[in-house]
Amino acid sequence: MSRQEPLSTPQLLELGPKVFTPNYRQLPVIFTRGEGCHVWDSTGRRYLDLVGGIAVNVLGHAHPMIVEVVNRQVRDLIHVSNLYYNEPAIRLASELQRLSGFGGRVFFANCGATANEAAIKLARRYFRTVVRRDRFEFITMEHSFHGRTLAMTAATGQPKYQMGYEPLPAGFVYAPFNDLQAISAKISSRTAAVLLEPIQGEGGVVPAKEGFLRGLRELCDSHGILLILDEVQTGIGRTGSFFAYEQEGIKPDIVTIAKGLGGGLPIGAMIAAPKVAEGFEPGAHATTFGGNPLVCAVALAVLEAIEVEGLLDNSRMIGEYLLDGLTVMRDDPKLEGVVRDVRGRGLMVGLELDGVDCRQIMTQCLHRGLLVSVAGTNVIRFVPPLIVGKGHIQAALAVLYEVLIDVVKERSQRK
Ligand SMILES: Cc1ncc(COP(=O)(O)O)c(C=O)c1O
Repeated sequence: MSRQEPLSTPQLLELGPKVFTPNYRQLPVIFTRGEGCHVWDSTGRRYLDLVGGIAVNVLGHAHPMIVEVVNRQVRDLIHVSNLYYNEPAIRLASELQRLSGFGGRVFFANCGATANEAAIKLARRYFRTVVRRDRFEFITMEHSFHGRTLAMTAATGQPKYQMGYEPLPAGFVYAPFNDLQAISAKISSRTAAVLLEPIQGEGGVVPAKEGFLRGLRELCDSHGILLILDEVQTGIGRTGSFFAYEQEGIKPDIVTIAKGLGGGLPIGAMIAAPKVAEGFEPGAHATTFGGNPLVCAVALAVLEAIEVEGLLDNSRMIGEYLLDGLTVMRDDPKLEGVVRDVRGRGLMVGLELDGVDCRQIMTQCLHRGLLVSVAGTNVIRFVPPLIVGKGHIQAALAVLYEVLIDVVKERSQRK
């Protein structure tokens, strides 16, 4: 096989499983192109994309602003390293500082897990070098998800992600989500911070209850410990505000973002309150690619488009529309016993099913030209581009309804 030789779809599908480590379960489809909320596979078939690269492609595919900025920035400068400053990184950090609402200082990482790693490292150093008290333990939530590095595997409160990787880094204890009393009971003289997602994503799209984050903020303040929010999935307008915490009227000490920030290019960021950021001195932490001018220029375009195109409003409005449509499905007598719950905020929505193989639903939707993903074990998750419209949602709901009706038929045949 020469490097230039074109490969047919069957050849690629045969080669794929032989060349990658077998830690993914790819569906047998090869995507070659995207535009707006649609992607096309190698056979030319079109799909409606309500996965958006798992909450990444906030502007959809091939957004003109991203195309233009990538072209320009690639010609100007792709990479220089953090030995020097570059303009897109300074501008982006300045924008994020403003958006954070607490004058946060920014560290650029490469993904969600490395943004969270930075948060954990900073929190420990803050207590050791600024507060001068040895607080090093983190309280994280059961059913949480914080990424796949070894420390984030330990932070993630789900044994299924931890199995086989022991010994895990020490210093993480778990408490039930949405349970202030249980969290309070875990706080000790060792505790440095509480780390959590405002809406648990991979855990099955489970939002924090009204008042929970405010209560947690007070709890952390009363113990002199930090509140770290992982907004890797909920950030960048996903829930209808730039950060989900804005809707709770609180500010964290550290917030992490990634996914949607680069509109498809890999970037993560940790934003820390100025006092906390003093825990890092030169050399304390670093990464080669962090703050690369190319990804930062694209992220700036993403922030600009979110504002100019009114995507926070769209996220709220279309999110409601999607929730309403799914709620109608939940209450449809023809689907009795299939849908258990509908929940979410903005364009982060989950449909919890009852006794249904969600992977099968995902595959059936794919066969009908619709991309959806699964969160937890039994939740169909919708995290589409923030540019999604009512027409897309109507089309998706029609496909999903057909697929769920098939589940009902199959069930009655089995009886
Ligand atoms: C809340 C949350 N934190 C962290 C991560 C890890 O991000 P990444 O896969 O970019 O490392 C994810 C990914 O799904 C996430 O949803």
